[in-house]
Amino acid sequence: MALREIIILPDKRLRLVSEPVKTVDAEVRALVEDMFETMYEAPGIGLAAIQVAVPRRIVTMDLAKKDDPKDPKVYINPEILWSSEETGTYEEGCLSIPEFYEEVERPARVKVKYIDLEGQAQEVEASGLLATCLQHEIDHLNGVLFIDHISKLKRDRVKKRFAKTAKRTTE
Ligand code: NI
Repeated sequence: MALREIIILPDKRLRLVSEPVKTVDAEVRALVEDMFETMYEAPGIGLAAIQVAVPRRIVTMDLAKKDDPKDPKVYINPEILWSSEETGTYEEGCLSIPEFYEEVERPARVKVKYIDLEGQAQEVEASGLLATCLQHEIDHLNGVLFIDHISKLKRDRVKKRFAKTAKRTTE
């Protein structure tokens, strides 16, 4: 296992559309292990492979509460089959946009199909935090960030702030 570097806004790779995984092989399993290590270290509750600069459709997640046992989940090639008309609002954050949080409104419930680490097709009906996280991470696989769902004014402000920081660190 190895820690990977998490790429940060305005890194253009965050806008790539990730490629589907064809077979869940040793390479994919090794990447998933690295993603968990990187996600737990950050710490974060969800990570898409593109956030460690790998444009593959792989998501790791752990929504266990702080004092509960770990609950690692892997979603390979996740796809939203259905989303509810009813919406819900959560304050979201993203390891690629550190220390910025904003409320985002999304469908409250979704049905998602995916492949598990054994290569088996699975389906999950999600609500609450899981529904939000799945949508946030699936967005990443399509080059979409949670700031794309907030007002243009707030989005421009956060983009400007991160562009400034990036400029400072490369000078
Ligand atoms: Ni994110």
